[in-house]
Amino acid sequence: MALYSEKVMDHFRNPRNVGVIEDADAVGEVGNAKCGDIMKIYLKIDNDVITDVKFETFGCGSAIASASMATELIKGKPLSEALELTNRAVVEALDGLPTHKIHCSVLAEEVIKAALKDYYDRNGIAYDPAMFPDDHDCENCELH
Ligand code: FES
Repeated sequence: MALYSEKVMDHFRNPRNVGVIEDADAVGEVGNAKCGDIMKIYLKIDNDVITDVKFETFGCGSAIASASMATELIKGKPLSEALELTNRAVVEALDGLPTHKIHCSVLAEEVIKAALKDYYDRNGIAYDPAMFPDDHDCENCELH
């Protein structure tokens, strides 16, 4: 069996929503403690709905595929839905990732949360800090 699903290869070869939004309403950036890779995401938000999203990553193929899929999953969605997106949902949408690459999908979940936190901070919107833990410990991911 191939190591990577066709969907992973598709999103790796033709990543969706790559780039920068200069006048973004929110920006998130996270690094992966395991490998040192970095992911950045830009959101345009209108009426609590994500109207546009772009990402950049200095990361592996699985990180690229995860970010691409994650952006597709949150585009056009309300913030509340984006907030609930888990790395597990991203992995499932990609038809799986090898176990040692699951941590790459965590970057995609975390970068979206970082951007949403940025949006709340910029607009003075109150939130429960527990929703945005400072240090995500990859080892405790539900998929590890
Ligand atoms: Fe770093 Fe995949 S190995 S994100």
